[in-house]
Amino acid sequence: MLYMGPLTTLLALLPLSAWAAPMCKLRSGSAAASSTPPPAATPTVSGSSSTSGNASSDFIATTWYASWHSSTLSAQDISWDKYTSATFAFATTVDDPTAVGYLNETGVADDLRVFVAAAHNATKEAYLTIGGWTGSAYFSVNVGSDANRTAFVKTMVGLVEQYDLDGLDFDWEYPGTTGADCNIYQPDDTANFLSFLQALRQDPGMTGKKITAATSILPFVGPDGAHSTDVSAFADVFDYISIMNYDVWGSFSANQMVGPNAPLNDTCVSDPSQAQGSAVSAVAAWTSAGFPANKIVLGVASYGHSYQVDQSKALSSTTPTNGTLPLNAWVQHEATQPAGDALDAFANASTTSCGTTVPAGYSGVFNFFGLIDKGFLDAIGNPVAGKGYLFDDCSQTPFIYDVDSQVMVSYDNAQSFAAKGDFIKQSGLRGFAMWEAAGDSNDILLDSIMGAISS
Ligand SMILES: *[C@@H]1O[C@H](CO)[C@@H](O)[C@H](O)[C@H]1NC(C)=O
Ligand SMILES: *[C@@H]1O[C@H](CO)[C@@H](O)[C@H](O)[C@H]1NC(C)=O
Ligand SMILES: *[C@@H]1O[C@H](CO)[C@@H](O)[C@H](O)[C@H]1NC(C)=O
Ligand SMILES: *[C@@H]1O[C@H](CO)[C@@H](O)[C@H](O)[C@H]1NC(C)=O
Ligand SMILES: *[C@@H]1O[C@H](CO)[C@@H](O)[C@H](O)[C@H]1NC(C)=O
Ligand SMILES: *[C@@H]1O[C@H](CO)[C@@H](O)[C@H](O)[C@H]1NC(C)=O
Ligand SMILES: *[C@@H]1O[C@H](CO)[C@@H](O)[C@H](O)[C@H]1NC(C)=O
Repeated sequence: MLYMGPLTTLLALLPLSAWAAPMCKLRSGSAAASSTPPPAATPTVSGSSSTSGNASSDFIATTWYASWHSSTLSAQDISWDKYTSATFAFATTVDDPTAVGYLNETGVADDLRVFVAAAHNATKEAYLTIGGWTGSAYFSVNVGSDANRTAFVKTMVGLVEQYDLDGLDFDWEYPGTTGADCNIYQPDDTANFLSFLQALRQDPGMTGKKITAATSILPFVGPDGAHSTDVSAFADVFDYISIMNYDVWGSFSANQMVGPNAPLNDTCVSDPSQAQGSAVSAVAAWTSAGFPANKIVLGVASYGHSYQVDQSKALSSTTPTNGTLPLNAWVQHEATQPAGDALDAFANASTTSCGTTVPAGYSGVFNFFGLIDKGFLDAIGNPVAGKGYLFDDCSQTPFIYDVDSQVMVSYDNAQSFAAKGDFIKQSGLRGFAMWEAAGDSNDILLDSIMGAISS
């Protein structure tokens, strides 16, 4: 996975609050699950009625709620009527299977209670995600032995009871392979993860509760470090997985190339080095490893990554077309990471718990609303006249460029969300999961993907 190492840098640059609870970046199961037909073309947003805990063809329209952005979007203000559920981020793993971290930081458990109450008031399901980029350090030990798995199951069921949750989402980045700098991992992780999930599924405390996962664009790795060619057993324990098809490219990528954050397709690129993952290849990879399409939810991004790009490289012409300046694709960016939007706080240099020095700087993340606030896009999400603009045919995502600051951003807009909605429908996927609820503006993205799926 190309983006693992680089994300260390990206996420280490998040503000301390976010650093503590990382950005990303769940049925009873059996044969019945795989024979469930694909979702109907018209999604039914059915609220919390679907609590059977086993195979169901209910369409999933969900989002993660980043608790450290609760002052930007309060839980009551989530567009509950448009979602089937939402997932609170995060509880983190600690070096003790009887406990979790982050939820015990000031105010976080209260935020979770408010979130669950808001979901239930709206008759929607509320889940909690465990792990995340900087919260996955101890999954390996927590599921590393029978005794630890038993303890970790008890901890998980305890969270469900304590917070009145409707499900748990596992965001282990990543079993059996490198993720963030400090993560412990070992060859049996994927097998141990499955054993843990089977035990969790059988626990009476999980009856009627969802078990989901946020996954990489490629299947879990096996003991040889290669991506597993058979992950079908996971389909029996997960209600669904959300494939995190974002951060595929960023200023952290190799060769300092500007590429799409969340490509829909990468099988159409002209240069093979540009094929680093996409929704099309991720779904192909998971389904060919035996994971059914109707248990795959596409992770979609309400944010983009920024790059510093010389004007001479960025623009293919200084003559406007339809108000904007034509942009070049796949250009080289400068080493400097520009600041993102108002939520992107400058982070001082720091040292991780395993001793790696993280330089000071910005993550460079622009939420969709932030591109509007910062004047790249107008209030309805179209490029402002005079900006550089490109809608890339292969990735089916937009790029925008500000000539004065020489900042280019690869992001998602209504058009790219509609393309992803069409793909979800055509591929018989279960639905979508947006990282993160606070990133959208007036539901422009959410309405667009729902519109495409319902049409
Ligand atoms: C689904 O759940 C229902 C009710 O909990 C149960 O009766 C049924 O056996 C389950 N089916 C499968 C395939 O797990
Ligand atoms: C939260 O709990 C974990 C696990 O017991 C512990 O390591 C951590 O120090 C606690 N954090 C706070 C702020 O109490
Ligand atoms: C509960 O839902 C109603 C609308 O159905 C809304 O007016 C109210 O603000 C909600 N309360 C909370 C605490 O979310
Ligand atoms: C079980 O958990 C303890 C506490 O985190 C840890 O020290 C130990 O290494 C774990 N065992 C395995 C086999 O991972
Ligand atoms: C992806 O690209 C391939 C190759 O050009 C094309 O055949 C396929 O239709 C594309 N898929 C989508 C969903 O755009
Ligand atoms: C960064 O360091 C400066 C100078 O030491 C300090 O004033 C500031 O509070 C620090 N910022 C953060 C987010 O820790
Ligand atoms: C011109 O730009 C407007 C606003 O962004 C857009 O709605 C329209 O489709 C564009 N027309 C063409 C021909 O690209």
